[in-house]
Amino acid sequence: MEKKNIVAGNWKMNKTNQEAKEFIKNLAPLIQSARASVYIAPSFTALQESILAAKNTNIIIGAQNMHDEVDGAFTGEVSGIMLKALGCEFVILGHSERRHIFQEDNTFINRKLIRALKDGLNPILCIGETQKERDEKKTEIVLEEQFLKGIQNVAKKDALNIILAYEPVWAIGTGKTATPKIAEQTHAFIRKLIIKYFDKEISKKMHILYGGSVKAQNVEELMQQENIDGVLVGGASLEYKSFAEIINKA
Ligand code: PGA
Repeated sequence: MEKKNIVAGNWKMNKTNQEAKEFIKNLAPLIQSARASVYIAPSFTALQESILAAKNTNIIIGAQNMHDEVDGAFTGEVSGIMLKALGCEFVILGHSERRHIFQEDNTFINRKLIRALKDGLNPILCIGETQKERDEKKTEIVLEEQFLKGIQNVAKKDALNIILAYEPVWAIGTGKTATPKIAEQTHAFIRKLIIKYFDKEISKKMHILYGGSVKAQNVEELMQQENIDGVLVGGASLEYKSFAEIINKA
């Protein structure tokens, strides 16, 4: 089967349930002939409405985060089985905002990833270096550590349920996109990591998305790169026309 590109929208803490519903209703007719798979991650409070609105469309809905336990005394948290029961199909894990603002470390992210796989959700595992780490030439060390610790204890048979996203922290919400060349070099490095820790077959099939200031103006050039299999879009996924444009170009 041909590998389809993925365009995923991460809405972060934006849009009420009503706004999410309106957005999906407006977006769906514009992307009917899209070649790429379309994923949207609304806030927890807009998930149910979004899942209903996305029925009979080619839009897949998932969450931006989850907890690693099934249930229990974890005030304010949401578990994978709760998301799955609603109809979510994927969950974003290890986003740099979770790592940096909420101090999530690789071990916690790995526990969530293992749980997500058990719960039948496809994790989108985000990895990426900061500007300081890039300047200090530590990009590859940081990425290898985040990847390796993130996928620890994942059986080969489950590997292809994971989607990877390379999101250089210095390019998120800053307007500074990694040049297609820099992104491609890093994606090629990540592809090699997949071979090293899984195998060649898995590395060919696994999606590696690029994220960080992706917009309609730069998506085509990014998508032309051999090792870029899709994009994870923040800011430009919040307006349905610009998001549709990105989807239709991918
Ligand atoms: P951005 O965010 O597109 O606004 O840079 C990307 C992300 O954080 O996933």
